[in-house]
Amino acid sequence: MQLKQALSSAVDRLEAADVGSPRMNAEVLLMFVLGVNRAYLYAHPERGLTAEDEARYNEVLARRATGMPSHYITGHQEFWGLDFVVSPAVLIPRPETEHLVETVLELARGVPNPKLVDVGTGSGCIALAVAHELKNAEVVAVDVSADALEIARANAARLQLDGRVHFMQSDVLEAVADPHDFDFVVSNPPYVGFGEADKVQKSVRDFEPRTAVFAGEQGLDVIGPLVEQAHRALKLGGWLAVEIGYSMRDAVVNLLNPTMWEDVRVVPDLQGIPRVVAARKRRIA
Ligand SMILES: C[S@@+](CC[C@H](N)C(=O)[O-])C[C@H]1O[C@@H](n2cnc3c(N)ncnc32)[C@H](O)[C@@H]1O
Repeated sequence: MQLKQALSSAVDRLEAADVGSPRMNAEVLLMFVLGVNRAYLYAHPERGLTAEDEARYNEVLARRATGMPSHYITGHQEFWGLDFVVSPAVLIPRPETEHLVETVLELARGVPNPKLVDVGTGSGCIALAVAHELKNAEVVAVDVSADALEIARANAARLQLDGRVHFMQSDVLEAVADPHDFDFVVSNPPYVGFGEADKVQKSVRDFEPRTAVFAGEQGLDVIGPLVEQAHRALKLGGWLAVEIGYSMRDAVVNLLNPTMWEDVRVVPDLQGIPRVVAARKRRIA
């Protein structure tokens, strides 16, 4: 079978299975199977596929047709211009989370040797993007999931940042010693309420880790303890920066007691949706 025929029948198959963007998915999976880039697909439509290529393509298409995200099939996702390995043990890094990284980098300007902890690191994307940008930063990354930490450690090694990012299994910040000396506590925590499960894409519900997505009835079961424990971990004037769900701004801002936090900021994403809440540990009690 020629490459162009394989592609066109894959598009039909994914369309029939109700997979969104069938052409893009068919191409990404063929690129993965053949180990080529998109330009190659367009330059060599008549290349013949070996029986082995065809069998492998069929296999990955069958997995994609079940709704499994293509990133779990290819094992990769780009974030902040860096290549991250992903598995079903971690959330697939989302482009909107780059707003959180941008916010932290902006707040860190002028902090000479920032010390930062990333809570719920998953693939490690936030911690590693920040460490990549801030060569003098000391970064700790924690997750409750040992399987997620294994992926994060692999990403740190691939990006040659393993000497500067330290990983630790922890429920929020409980296992992190209590030194009051972090400049930043950063987190993209799980924030979907159980009651909102039907508003989440089916592929997220079915394939992404439950502990990475859901956080109790209201979606606040991790953010609540995070705000409390971050206050202990931060030095005076240190920043908490958290990614939030599309309707959570008021609920999260309300957790920030004004006697303990100041300079509360809400950063919108490109669509104007509140995406990041940042606040500073109050300097004068
Ligand atoms: C929304 S994912 C974010 C992953 C990654 N930081 C990102 O932005 O793609 C939330 C992460 O928090 C972790 N998590 C959930 N509950 C936690 C808890 N109580 N303490 C620490 N980590 C937790 C999950 O295992 C998951 O990796």
